[in-house]
Amino acid sequence: MKSKIVAGNWKLNKGPQETNAFATQLCELLKTELQTGAPKATQLVVFPQTLVLASAVQSFSGSSVAVGGQNIYSESTGAFTGENSAAVLRELGATHVLIGHSERRQIFGETDMLLAKKMWMALKAELLPVFCVGETLEQRQSGQTESVLTAQLQNGLAGIDRNETFWVAYEPVWAIGTGQVASPQQASEAHAFIRSFLGKTCEAPILYGGSVKPENAMAIAQQPHIDGFLVGGASLDPRSFFEIAKNLK
Ligand code: 13P
Repeated sequence: MKSKIVAGNWKLNKGPQETNAFATQLCELLKTELQTGAPKATQLVVFPQTLVLASAVQSFSGSSVAVGGQNIYSESTGAFTGENSAAVLRELGATHVLIGHSERRQIFGETDMLLAKKMWMALKAELLPVFCVGETLEQRQSGQTESVLTAQLQNGLAGIDRNETFWVAYEPVWAIGTGQVASPQQASEAHAFIRSFLGKTCEAPILYGGSVKPENAMAIAQQPHIDGFLVGGASLDPRSFFEIAKNLK
């Protein structure tokens, strides 16, 4: 059985001190869990803001928790004031990177074409990209969920070999930060659709994101095609992040 994944997107939260305190508490909880003989079956990753990346890597060093970036630019060097390079993220110790989070698409106007370049750049830098897709409420209500997902996947993964190592996160925009979590069935249907789009030979895990909490994670995780979670708000507290992971085993 593949191990499940729980990833925490901290968005624009937590400085170095809070990150360090989080790491200490989470590692303590993980240690206690291991002492009870529980199997270490869940992969954990946190995505702090880029400014905190180096200190987050330090804070989690020696633990099983990986650290990733929330964004990279599509070029690795050059005259791109204010941007962040995939190669440097990797050099600082990041192993993963989010690509195409709905906040990047909606607030910062990132297009499918730009995201395809970022995917390529992440893989070139040996970062594991987590490609985020999801429909808005309006798109869902007008029956466009599958066509939106198809376009996002087709364009964003254009030119990416399906055998490369990457993850997909299905995050319906209407469920992000709203408390309105997708029903287990809605999540499972969308994941099944994404899985069939990716094809039988592609092993990319598909994570669900959008208002995941310790209380609702279990019901979603029990559905087919759910390989883990990308958690926003509930990942900011080490205990609730830990509880989500613990329930998945
Ligand atoms: P919430 O869990 O706060 O809804 O955020 C989800 C998300 O955007 C993770 O990337």
